[in-house]
Amino acid sequence: MIDVRSLSMYYGPYAALKEVSFQVQSGEILGLLGPNGAGKTTAMRILTTYLYPTAGTATMDGFDILTQPLEARRTTGYLPETAPLYPDMRVDEYLSFVGQARGLSGKRLEERREWVREACDLAFVWKHAIHELSKGYRQRVGLAQALIHDPKILILDEPTSGLDPLQILGIRKLIKGLAREKTIIFSTHILQEVEAMADRIVIIHEGRVVAQGAQSELEKQARPKSAKQGPLTLEDIFIALLT
Ligand SMILES: Nc1ncnc2c1ncn2[C@@H]1O[C@H](COP(=O)(O)OP(=O)(O)OP(=O)(O)O)[C@@H](O)[C@H]1O
Ligand SMILES: [Mg+2]
Repeated sequence: MIDVRSLSMYYGPYAALKEVSFQVQSGEILGLLGPNGAGKTTAMRILTTYLYPTAGTATMDGFDILTQPLEARRTTGYLPETAPLYPDMRVDEYLSFVGQARGLSGKRLEERREWVREACDLAFVWKHAIHELSKGYRQRVGLAQALIHDPKILILDEPTSGLDPLQILGIRKLIKGLAREKTIIFSTHILQEVEAMADRIVIIHEGRVVAQGAQSELEKQARPKSAKQGPLTLEDIFIALLT
């Protein structure tokens, strides 16, 4: 489970996050939805302990990101906006390298490499140098490095950005399949993405949480602000809450 408690982040005088709070239960997929510059990446970088917040904290599977950052990191897999790949390494070498950095070795490392190869559909490029790969395969390798140590929590920053429709479907299916045993946050500014994958949605705008809940709950929050009659789509909800 993830418990985010009143996180604020200032870059100099600029507030990128303002007292952001939300929770994600085990087995749940949370979609962090917001326009460009809303603070999604900032929030994810704090949860993965790459950035230190100005105020507030969070716990990752019970580990506090400020006082137990190593434990919090061990329990978390992170796919940043740009996957952290080494273009000169082969896919199999790179995943061994990341696995070793995550403390795996011997039979366990071999098992996990095989698992991510199948789960992320990498057999076709397994021995290829990373610089030869298409964007979609690079994203899959990025996801594989986030999964190699079998973390309980996954933080995915725009996991389907730049992919073609078929690859998007493949990645969505993979993420949905992982949800049974993991706690997942993914960010996006694409409404269909949250509709397709998220159990619950947190809408963030200018660093603040403007609404959260399942789509039906968001609809209730947006209803008084929307001029539209009848059922509201996520797009209607987004427009009503953000304008
Ligand atoms: N290192 C930094 N120094 C100063 N300002 C920053 C820094 N990183 C981010 N910001 C600012 O903080 C705000 C939130 O940025 P962030 O990258 O978290 O947004 P985002 O929701 O991920 O946007 P996008 O959808 O474009 O990825 C933006 O206004 C951005 O310009
Ligand atoms: Mg971002």
